[in-house]
Amino acid sequence: GSLRLVYRIAGAGTREFSALKEGDWLEVLGPLGNGFPMEEMEGKHAFLIGGGIGIPPMLELAKELPGDKKIILGFRDEQYLTEELNAYGDVYVATEDGSAGTKGNVLDAIRENGLRGDVICACGPTPMLRALKEYSIAENIPCYLSLEERMACGVGACLVCACDMADGSRKHVCKDGPVFDSREVNWDV
Ligand code: FES
Repeated sequence: GSLRLVYRIAGAGTREFSALKEGDWLEVLGPLGNGFPMEEMEGKHAFLIGGGIGIPPMLELAKELPGDKKIILGFRDEQYLTEELNAYGDVYVATEDGSAGTKGNVLDAIRENGLRGDVICACGPTPMLRALKEYSIAENIPCYLSLEERMACGVGACLVCACDMADGSRKHVCKDGPVFDSREVNWDV
């Protein structure tokens, strides 16, 4: 009977959101878009990778995904949700300032801990997702990325979230995604 939303204050809308008080009413449209392809991960050793505000989606995925999973989290400094995620898999942490876990990023944590996986699910800032696409190509493993984009309408009407795809098309992160096979996304790596 409850829904938890985790967000970063990034503009006027989320600032207004942050001023809401317990008991205030909101209209909610959703769920929208797709999710990670659970059927592609069955029986595999999955890497669930979250960076910054891309970490919360990994919690529900970790809960729903059966089997072996390594949860790799990248923080700038202060950690959050780490303990909750610990209940669903082995958690590895990277921090930019080295205050916990591996000093560096999520790929540094994978290397430092000698982790092996055969499918990647990730959400986080674009530089992290690009690096993971590159890593997945080098390791020859499937990689599914949940893209972060500014969104307005959420239903494919306003084009704010349109992204270039490798086949020359443009897709809406809100309606066609947010999860894409990394090979679909038009990033040269
Ligand atoms: Fe409007 Fe995606 S947010 S098209």
